[in-house]
Amino acid sequence: MSSRIVVTRTIPEPALDLLREAGDLWLNPEDRALTRDELFEAIAGADAVVTLLHDRVDGAFLDAAGPALQVVANVAVGFDNVDVEAVRSRGVRFTNTPGVLTDATADIAFALILMATRRLSEGERLIRSQAPWNWNMAFMLGTGLQGKTLGIVGLGQIGIATARRARAFGMQIAYTGRRRASPELESELEARFQPLDELLATADVVSLHCPLSDETRHLVTAERLAAMKPTAFLVNTTRGPVIDEAALAEALREGVIAGAGLDVFEREPEVHPALIELDNVVLIPHLGSATVETRTAMAVLAAENAIAVLEGREPPTPFV
Ligand code: 8YV
Repeated sequence: MSSRIVVTRTIPEPALDLLREAGDLWLNPEDRALTRDELFEAIAGADAVVTLLHDRVDGAFLDAAGPALQVVANVAVGFDNVDVEAVRSRGVRFTNTPGVLTDATADIAFALILMATRRLSEGERLIRSQAPWNWNMAFMLGTGLQGKTLGIVGLGQIGIATARRARAFGMQIAYTGRRRASPELESELEARFQPLDELLATADVVSLHCPLSDETRHLVTAERLAAMKPTAFLVNTTRGPVIDEAALAEALREGVIAGAGLDVFEREPEVHPALIELDNVVLIPHLGSATVETRTAMAVLAAENAIAVLEGREPPTPFV
């Protein structure tokens, strides 16, 4: 009997083609996330479910799918939408998509660093407002990056790729995380390890790359923002809830830090209204992996993961 494969929201065609060849595919026909009830109805009796970041995978999800479920393949490197222990305890495999979005996301982190420090959104808004502008030597001055320190919170694949870009721009690297990097990596990046609070107090730009977990939820609080330099910038391309967004808006308004660049938000797709009013924050709508090449690679990898499990093989990027 052919496997029942559910895809909770459309993904690039090459991945759908692979899944169609592998089984009986059900694809959400709407361009929106399924409601919880619709999701549970769709996944009933599924052998494999391909999920996106807005699908909560927990005990109720696994109950709704039923005993045939072998694999949940998330089309994301992030896994905060998944109760990993619940999946593990049922003997279901869970896969994510590390690696294929490293460069695209690091590019966006660096774009945000440049946009925030050189005031690019602000400049664009000025031109589009058609207000007259008067160039002079002091007009719209930003902050240079050369010789400054980038503090990376979470030196995983994306953190490393962002650090490499920063090195090419002449920046020094500091990092923090649960463990020390290898001596080879530290020496390649000339990176120094610092405890989080020391890194926040000394970095000129802080870029967040840690996954969202109970440990990292609201890692950046009002107190920690206050510990940063008033000239410093904060960039977030991981998950919104790593920052207390209300506290960040307040810190930006009060000049506690100089600026920020955000690709992710605490309650997506909502953005804290206080942030929208501020000129010193760059706001973009979760574009970290949003290139044709990267999204295709992510979807194909998720499909390959699902198919491997259905065929009794080890998936290319297993998580559980
Ligand atoms: C994706 C992401 O666009 O992979 C992740 O964790 O946040 C993004 O790159 C998104 O998750 C797609 O589902």
